[in-house]
Amino acid sequence: MRMVDLISKKRHNIELTTAEIEWIINGYTNKEIPDYQMSALLMAIVFNDMTKAERLALTQAMVNSGDVVDLSAIEGVKVDKHSTGGVGDKTSLILGPLVASMGVPVAKMSGRGLGHTGGTLDKLESISGMKIEIEMDQFIQQVNDIKLAIIGQTGNLAPADKYLYALRDVTGTVESIPLIASSIMSKKIAAGADAIVLDVKFGAGAFMKTLDDAKELATAMVEIGRDAGRETVAFLTDMNQPLGFAIGNALEVKEAIETLSGNGPKDLEELVLQLASHMVVLAKKAANTEQAYAQLKEKLQNGEALQKFKEFVAAQGGDTSQIENPELLPTASSVIPVTATEAGYVEKIDALSIGIAAMKLGAGRATKEDTIDMGVGVVLNKKVGEAINQGDVLAYVHTNQADSQEAIEYIKKAYEISSSSVCSPTLIYDIIA
Ligand code: URA
Repeated sequence: MRMVDLISKKRHNIELTTAEIEWIINGYTNKEIPDYQMSALLMAIVFNDMTKAERLALTQAMVNSGDVVDLSAIEGVKVDKHSTGGVGDKTSLILGPLVASMGVPVAKMSGRGLGHTGGTLDKLESISGMKIEIEMDQFIQQVNDIKLAIIGQTGNLAPADKYLYALRDVTGTVESIPLIASSIMSKKIAAGADAIVLDVKFGAGAFMKTLDDAKELATAMVEIGRDAGRETVAFLTDMNQPLGFAIGNALEVKEAIETLSGNGPKDLEELVLQLASHMVVLAKKAANTEQAYAQLKEKLQNGEALQKFKEFVAAQGGDTSQIENPELLPTASSVIPVTATEAGYVEKIDALSIGIAAMKLGAGRATKEDTIDMGVGVVLNKKVGEAINQGDVLAYVHTNQADSQEAIEYIKKAYEISSSSVCSPTLIYDIIA
């Protein structure tokens, strides 16, 4: 085979075979195919799309480019959840223990945050002593013992995706449904899940800006999952305001504890219960999502979900007194209110601007090398649909900086105020199953 012929084939919109796609991915991973040829192929894909068979072949070739985690020693159906990234998205911290409290094994590999979205691992590390680097046999043992472990990625999962993503980033080829879908699904499949629940977010703070684009991506991922033998369900959820109230590591852990105690923000609790219901059904621990929902709600109210979180924190070396008394979690030295300059109704809270504000305060990383200040962030006081008077507090800035004016400006800019009343926004737009 010659790469130039395959580039030309794709440019003429002729379907590539599975063998050809495997050859390309192997060659690129082994550095036999140069970046300039791979870039040309990627651009042809951006323009000509990929067929269902090509998308599956690309995903599987990327899975096979590295290690595949073997979770077969864990009893039961292993269901993973993936979010395409949002601001204030602490759902994994709540979903893990909640679903595990129903007997569903959760063996989760999570990532760190970069840019305006936070990472589950960083949030967990705001709990003193929490260890997220665990050997594979211990990881599996912990899931068998208590049904839940969350760790950093181990091994060399889907290296082809890592190289391709870096190339796409600098060649204007990130925005392509087949390339995004295969990138995300290759990592999920390599991480060993039997079934996958996806939370595809759209809006200002999200990767996909519109509902239509998010739907197209979600459908593509569900098809790939199914064709690869993994039951997959995708949610389409709104990111036109941050999820819950808290943005920042320890602040989000605190909100997760409140939610696990049945006292969380309504939007966050509802999304968690809906996602968890589908995970429980996929794991065959409930006959339908309505039944699962009722049982899960009970687990939030009777303390079992919170108890599971404590067990998990203890198993990974974390200080459980911080879970019992969240005020022992890291805090910021000052809390500054950000007030409304006009009266009206909150129409929109630009999640991207809030995410940037949190990052400027030190809650996130602008570059991989940055260190995180665990106690800082933003806590919203008003959400979309609420009426406000001039001088009302819109949000609180939790800061250790002498001057937080830049972050405050981002927060002010994020709030759009309307003079006429605004409906509370829909959070879950669709579920593709
Ligand atoms: N996230 C991924 O993992 N891959 C993409 O291509 C885009 C977002």
